[in-house]
Amino acid sequence: MVTTKKIIDMKGKEPIVMITAYDYPTAKIASESGVEIILVGDSLGNVVLGYDSTIPVTMEDMLFHIKAVRRGAPDAFIVGDMPFLSYEVSIEKAVENAGLMLKAGANAIKLEGGQEYEETIRKIIAAGIPVMGHLGFTPQSVNLLGGHRVQGKTQESKEKLLRDAKALESAGCFAIVLELVVESVAKEITESINIPTIGIGAGRYCDGQVLVFHDVVGLSTANFKFVKKYANTYEIMAEAVKNYKNEVKSRTFPTQENVFE
Ligand code: KIV
Ligand code: NA
Repeated sequence: MVTTKKIIDMKGKEPIVMITAYDYPTAKIASESGVEIILVGDSLGNVVLGYDSTIPVTMEDMLFHIKAVRRGAPDAFIVGDMPFLSYEVSIEKAVENAGLMLKAGANAIKLEGGQEYEETIRKIIAAGIPVMGHLGFTPQSVNLLGGHRVQGKTQESKEKLLRDAKALESAGCFAIVLELVVESVAKEITESINIPTIGIGAGRYCDGQVLVFHDVVGLSTANFKFVKKYANTYEIMAEAVKNYKNEVKSRTFPTQENVFE
C-alpha cells in the first residue's frame, strides 16, 4: 500500500512514478501497471473535456472524475488536483474543497503555488488532508505567466523557486511537482529539500516523474519535448473505428458468428 510516508521514504532510493488518470479504464490500466501515484489532474480540462486551458475546470468536474478513477483503482494512492478558484478565495473554502476531494475518493490533494499558500496548506493538512505542492510552470496562472514557459531561467526565478520549495516543505507538503523547470534548477531544488520532487519537463534529477496518461499512450495529439509517447493509440483507435465503419458499409460485419439464431 502506498502512503505519504512511503512516498517520502522513496526519496533518493527509488524513482517515484506518477501518471494521470481521468476515468474508469485509464485508472484501471494505471493501477495495474504498478505506478505509485495516480493523479486526477485538472489537465482533464484539456485532455478529456476539450478546453484550451485548465481554467474552466470546476470542483464538480473534479469530483465526478475522482469518483470514476477510484472505481477503476480501488487500492491506488490517488491525488486530486484542486481546480482554479477552489482554494484561492479563502482558507475556509480551500479546506472544504480539499475535504470534498477526500470524500470523493482521493487520498491527498495537489494545489499550484508557493509561499503565498503556506497558510492555506497548513490548514488543509491540519484537517487531515495530505498536500502535494506544484511549482514551476503552473497552468492555472497561464494568463499571468504568458504562455507555456520554462521556469528558473533567471537568477531571480531560480531563487523564487528555491524559496517556494522550502516554504512548501515547511508547510508540510509530502511532495512537490516541478513543471517545466530548467534541469539544473530542478536538481538544486531536489537536493535542497527532504521531500520528493516529481518532475514533468523538469529533467533527470527529480525524485520522480509524472506524465499525462493520454500523452504516454499517444491518445492526445499534443507534441511536447518533455513527453515520451510509448504507443500510438490514437492511430490504433482511429484504424479500428474506420474498419468497423467500412465493414458495416460493406456488410462484412456482422457475420454468422455475431448473430443469435
Ligand atoms: O493536471 C495535471 O495533470 C498536472 C500534472 C501535469 C502535474 O498537474
Ligand atoms: Na494540474
